[in-house]
This record gives sequence, C-alpha cells and structure tokens, in this order.
Amino acid sequence: MTVTEPTPITTADPITATGPASGAASAAPGGGEDRDATFASIVRRLSKQSVEKHFDAYADIDWDDPLMAIDPADPRFLLWTGDPLGATEWYRSQPADVQSRVALYRVASAMRTGWEFENVLQRGLLNIAFWMPNGAEQFRYLHHETIEESQHSLMFQEFVNRTGMPVHGMPTVIKKAAERAVLPLSRRFPELFFLFVLGGEDPVDHLQRQQLRRGGVHPLVERIMRIHVTEEARHVSYARNYLKAEVPKLGRVRRGALSLITPPMFGVMTRLMVDVPPSMSFRAGVPKSVISEARKTPKRAKLLVEASAKPRKLCEELGLMNPVSRRLWKLFGVAGGPET
Ligand SMILES: [Fe+2]
Ligand SMILES: [Fe+2]
Repeated sequence: MTVTEPTPITTADPITATGPASGAASAAPGGGEDRDATFASIVRRLSKQSVEKHFDAYADIDWDDPLMAIDPADPRFLLWTGDPLGATEWYRSQPADVQSRVALYRVASAMRTGWEFENVLQRGLLNIAFWMPNGAEQFRYLHHETIEESQHSLMFQEFVNRTGMPVHGMPTVIKKAAERAVLPLSRRFPELFFLFVLGGEDPVDHLQRQQLRRGGVHPLVERIMRIHVTEEARHVSYARNYLKAEVPKLGRVRRGALSLITPPMFGVMTRLMVDVPPSMSFRAGVPKSVISEARKTPKRAKLLVEASAKPRKLCEELGLMNPVSRRLWKLFGVAGGPET
C-alpha cells in the first residue's frame, strides 16, 4: 500500500526521541545484550513503518500537473536561507530571473549529488545484507531502506532531467574514492560506514527541513523534499541506533580510528552539500571569484557547523570525542571555533 501524504516536518525523530534506545551508548558495560534486544526491537518497528508509510517516485508525484511545471525564471526557485551564495554581492545584484535560474541549478545539482550518495549507500547496504544469515532481523530493514533510496534516486534524477540543466553532482575524485574506499567499509568496518551514511543524510536533512520551515518553495521541490524528509527519518534512526548498539563493542584501536576519521569525513561530506559546486562557474554563469567569496563568508562557516550538529552530538554520546578529535572537528570547520 502506498500512502500519499508525507509526515509534517518536526525536529524530533519519533523513534530516537521516544524509543528505548535513547542513551543506549552510555549503558553500563555488560549491557550488550540489552542493547542488542533494544536495537532488534527498533529495527522491527522501522520495518513496520516502512510498510505503513512509503512513497513511489512516479505514483506519488504528479509530475505532469501544470502546477509542478518547471520554469527557470520562477521566483519560487530560491536559494536556501543560509546558502553562502546568497550572501554575495554578485548574487544580490542579479535580476530576479537570473537569481531564480541560479537557484534552480543549485537545487538540481544538490539532487544529483544526493542520488550519487544514495547510490553508494544502497550498494553498501546490499553488501551488508548479502552476507546476513537466515533469520537476521536487519535483513528486511536493509532492503526497505535500499528500496526507498532507489525511489529517492528516481525522483531526484527525474527532477534534474526536467530542469534540462547540465548539473554535474559530486567531483569525479570523490566518486572514485567513494566506490573504492567506502564500499569495502560496509563489511569490514560497518560502524565507519554508518557514520559515512549519517555524514550524507544529516546535512541534507538539516537543509531540507530548514527550507520547508521557511516555506514559499516551488510545489514540485516541496513535494520531493517532504517525501524525502519523511523517509530519511527512518534511515537516520537506523544508522544512529546501529551505532549505539555496535560502537560500545569495539576495541580501543577501532574506536580511536573512528574518532580520528569521522571529523575529516564529515568535513568533506558537509561541504559537498553546503558549498557552491565549482561547475556553477562554467555551467550556470557564476564567476569563479564569487564561488570562492561564498566559501569565505561567515554564513558558510555557520552552516557547516549547524548542518553537522546532530552527528557531532552523536559522536559525543558514542564516546568518540577526545582532545585530538575535538581539534580535528574544528580544523575541518564542522565544530564551532576558527577554521584553519
Ligand atoms: Fe534518500
Ligand atoms: Fe536515506
């Protein structure tokens, strides 16, 4: 059954906020069985919710409704509230139709980057499911999430196609690194893989919720974002609760590795969503000097910190903060303090 109305936007993740897994990472040593039982029950609830409320990229979006039509000069294509590009003098001095066109490119580019991330994520989830034994509780949920990510990728790319804009997505070097380094992690170091998952999902969720709260968004973009935010709440909950159950079981070496790798990883991934893509200089007419100016604005520094706030708090809960990792979070601009 397909349900057509997305959940209204709230800041709380219902499962994480009310479920028994809250604070699991701080459970006393020897609470491993409790943590496992709690996680198994959360996984069952997430699987049930995935059946009760899910969306199809084509059945649940009326792409051909005239209200959904894309006109690049439509003033409802706006940069999001904290977009560093919006803080530049160049952008503010452009005519309204140019501002809308640039904003549309920015949205389409974010959607392409989004599905490229989801593509890696799906392959990682399938890689984990491939090796699961019969009866594993997580097998079913991993497939629910993979199916949902495929629907997201379909709706994101359909939007890109309808804009007709030559957006690029992630830089090629990042795509290659994601394939070569991240995919093997899904089995060899799944805790790091699920932190990678949050590195992609949490900043996008932050930006989309911010835009939905502001309102005035183009109806097609709004529909896509509401569907995405609704389903991502489950994905984020799964990753967070997986980490709360599994990180306490790790030895010192792996926990130390997580504490040091996570800050640069979040630094790179948050920038992928927050920064103006370099391709906008030759594909959307934004001067290179404006792109570098946007990267130096206080707005950009603030957004990097805000968009990574939830995973940073989770890392605190997981005991992945130490004097060195705290410095790294700041160094990579994803925690308050001067960025170098
Ligand atoms: Fe998604
Ligand atoms: Fe997701």
